[in-house]
Amino acid sequence: MNTTESNVPLNPPVEARPVARMLSDGAYRRIDREVSKFPLEGKGSAVMAALGIAQDEKGWLSIEVMADVASYLGLPDIAVQEVATFYNMYNVRPVGRHKITVCTNLPCALSGGALAGEYLKSKLGIDYRETTADGGFTLMEGECMGACGDAPVMLVDNKRMASWMSNEKIDALLAELSAKN
Ligand code: FES
Repeated sequence: MNTTESNVPLNPPVEARPVARMLSDGAYRRIDREVSKFPLEGKGSAVMAALGIAQDEKGWLSIEVMADVASYLGLPDIAVQEVATFYNMYNVRPVGRHKITVCTNLPCALSGGALAGEYLKSKLGIDYRETTADGGFTLMEGECMGACGDAPVMLVDNKRMASWMSNEKIDALLAELSAKN
């Protein structure tokens, strides 16, 4: 086992790591419900749901929050980080109050997705992976969302699909979300 000069293990077992609890009691109860849907040995199968619950509560998944989820599920930190960084519905850095992810994968890009992204950039005054100065919106590019026939498509706040997004529909969406800000 790797040790430092003070003989402290570099990679202590999961259960030995002191991890600060980052979520509310209600969030852990929701995670418990997700865990209960899987056999005991498949506790890690609840990781995606647990990350979603943590993100709903914290707004984004910091290293500390991911470590807490890992510890709670008895998983290595890296296993949770791999999931959080693979799927673009997880925010691994702070985002605005609303996040719009535009599909610019090739089929969508050729069917208006790229133009819709450019229109959003001009309306918001930001580029992809940026957040407006007032913290209202973050704009992201996304991969195929399984709705190629509905282009231009975008995912709003990680959960709501918006299809056939003409400039007029984008204007209406921004107005609706701004009213909630
Ligand atoms: S390529 Fe955009 S939804 Fe499939």
